[in-house]
Amino acid sequence: MIETSSSRWQDDLVCPRCRTSLRHTPDGGLQCGNCALASVPFPVVGGKPVLVDFSNSILDRDAVLASAAASPIRRGGWRALLTRAVNGTNRIAPRIAQAMLARLAMPGTHRARVLVVGGGAIGAGAEALYAAADIDLIGFDIYASQTTDFVADAHAIPFADGSIDAVWIQAVLEHVADPGRVVAEIVRVLRPGGLVFADTPFLWPVHEQAYDFTRWSPSGHRWLFRDFAVIAAGTSSGPGTASLLALRYLAAALTRSNKLGQLLTLPLVWLRLLDRWCAPRRSLDAAAGLFFFGCKTDRPLDLKGLVRFYDEQLPLEAAARSGNIAQTKVEGTASTPPG
Ligand SMILES: C[S@@+](CC[C@H](N)C(=O)[O-])C[C@H]1O[C@@H](n2cnc3c(N)ncnc32)[C@H](O)[C@@H]1O
Ligand SMILES: [Zn+2]
Repeated sequence: MIETSSSRWQDDLVCPRCRTSLRHTPDGGLQCGNCALASVPFPVVGGKPVLVDFSNSILDRDAVLASAAASPIRRGGWRALLTRAVNGTNRIAPRIAQAMLARLAMPGTHRARVLVVGGGAIGAGAEALYAAADIDLIGFDIYASQTTDFVADAHAIPFADGSIDAVWIQAVLEHVADPGRVVAEIVRVLRPGGLVFADTPFLWPVHEQAYDFTRWSPSGHRWLFRDFAVIAAGTSSGPGTASLLALRYLAAALTRSNKLGQLLTLPLVWLRLLDRWCAPRRSLDAAAGLFFFGCKTDRPLDLKGLVRFYDEQLPLEAAARSGNIAQTKVEGTASTPPG
């Protein structure tokens, strides 16, 4: 738990293997004093510590050091620009960011810590978090960037138990090998009642090349976050977007070119607009992307509750569409959100 308003988040960094507190070396590095990783300090690349247990990570130590912790896949350029333009704005994330900030505003207590998992780039709609002056926003990713404070693997988050107030994880869970373990890590580092926002694809084709592993239905996504009471959940993009994506990937497959696939389907971007006219049930059953906003509970969802969720998500989806995100409370969920 965070106890004082003066505690620095850096003081709650722990070893990714044994989770003991890290000690500072004379030259400003960080080192474990406890386990087999203790023999040398953690590497520092471009001024950022690399807090990774390489023996148990998708990251390779030599490759990270040789590339100065660059992204394993190429980013930016025309692809990123075009993808942002074609995918349009995220209508849910900005509202959740505002709702999260409102719930974290605790006058007289500590500055809230928001941890962005996979924060190598600012997620669509997350801008308000980065602009907020009264929180500590901490970002990490498996590569170093302007928006990361350290390099780490989400399978072993180098933070002490209960040291974080909220986690933002957008378009990341499909890219980790063991999403259950990553969510367990999120549960561990969050304080009781801590918040999570996840934005995750459902009917979204493979992206990020070799680093794309899993998809979820709405109920599967809810089960992944079973240690959280739901505040809001639903589609972040619907069947119109899913159709556009399918056509884009079809065009790419036929022309054997991702660039052509993007360009040929540019005239069809209006398909995205159909999302807002789709009925909630059908929309959830065929969404391109899903979101979950919840708070950590000690009364996890059970299997009966999971089955009930299929119907319970309809009012949640309706509330999310009407913009009434922060007020939603669902019968049958494990506990009441704080605030
Ligand atoms: C599709 S990008 C999304 C980036 C950003 N969150 C956004 O919404 O634009 C997926 C991100 O997950 C990161 N990632 C993949 N595996 C990871 C892991 N094991 N731990 C932390 N981040 C990871 C990638 O490096 C990449 O930055
Ligand atoms: Zn250790």
